[in-house]
Amino acid sequence: MPSPLTMNPSAITTDLPDAPIIQARGVHKSFGNFQALKSLDMEVRRGECVGLLGPNGAGKSTFIGCLYGVVRRDGGELNVFSHDPVHHPRAIKSRLGVVPQENALDDGLTVLENMQIYARFGGLSTSQALPRIKELLAYMSLDHKSEAIIKTLSGGMKRRLAFVRALLAEPQLLLLDEPTTGLDPTVRHLLWEKVLSFKKTGKTVLVTTHYMHEAEILCDRIVILNKGEVAGAGTPKEMIERLAPGYVGIFSQDSEPLLRPLLDPARPGWELFHQGQHCCIRAPQLEDLVALQHSSGLTPLQLRPSNLEDVYLKLTGRELDTNE
Ligand SMILES: Nc1ncnc2c1ncn2[C@@H]1O[C@H](COP(=O)(O)OP(=O)(O)O)[C@@H](O)[C@H]1O
Ligand SMILES: [Mg+2]
Repeated sequence: MPSPLTMNPSAITTDLPDAPIIQARGVHKSFGNFQALKSLDMEVRRGECVGLLGPNGAGKSTFIGCLYGVVRRDGGELNVFSHDPVHHPRAIKSRLGVVPQENALDDGLTVLENMQIYARFGGLSTSQALPRIKELLAYMSLDHKSEAIIKTLSGGMKRRLAFVRALLAEPQLLLLDEPTTGLDPTVRHLLWEKVLSFKKTGKTVLVTTHYMHEAEILCDRIVILNKGEVAGAGTPKEMIERLAPGYVGIFSQDSEPLLRPLLDPARPGWELFHQGQHCCIRAPQLEDLVALQHSSGLTPLQLRPSNLEDVYLKLTGRELDTNE
């Protein structure tokens, strides 16, 4: 029996204006006996920034690889700009900017040489390329390094350069695989600004990150992957409201025996759980936690609104210890 990838190689060959920029249905990929992606469904629409979150090994980079043709999926439907990356890679690559998880820069070349090569791949003429390269290097505070050999750059500089490379040829879609790992907060903010202004012009972004704050800042929608499957999806706000609504009081671990008897299992929206060394209580209202503080005589280390990290930990297998 032919594999699903060879049955109809030219199923979609034109770029359909209203089609999602990325559309995956039942995408699966195994390495040997290990299923890295198990029937993944997801969409990224034009002008959206979607965050792909999940623990190490969840399959994020495998999926990104499938999108630009460095990983060949075993089956399922996948379209990027309405083209299958296996059968029409060039139609996709010409409109794509990628920051891969590994920088994949040419270590022996200078920064400028490296960027010139990629600008040529991206279809820019020499006269178009130089000002564009200079502008982006300056933006990422790398202009003083244009004659430096890549291997002499720090890890953070290489990461910035990989981002410059992704933007060179004015792509329509950015695939960013942990783009800010290893960057200091100042540079991280610069990169966020660039991604947000890119998105403002109607272009599309798929980003993986382990920083929940980054996901909340950049992403219109989140897809959480766990063990090769979608564990949850939605806007950050909607996911927080649906999966972890309310406020969290963070207490020291040894507070648990005092707190537990005060929780009424019949009250909806209350939850006791652990995050690292801490005992946490979720309650519908901030005042509920203040009342708990008074009745227990315990001072919380922190009181805060629920956030995306709570949702993430819940969906990716935090041990629940709850009266839900
Ligand atoms: N080329 C490969 N050969 C074998 N196993 C791989 C290969 N690429 C990825 N994997 C495995 O697939 C799983 C998913 O990897 P990956 O997509 O890189 O996860 P993530 O990016 O979410 O951390 C991991 O267990 C990883 O070890
Ligand atoms: Mg990865």
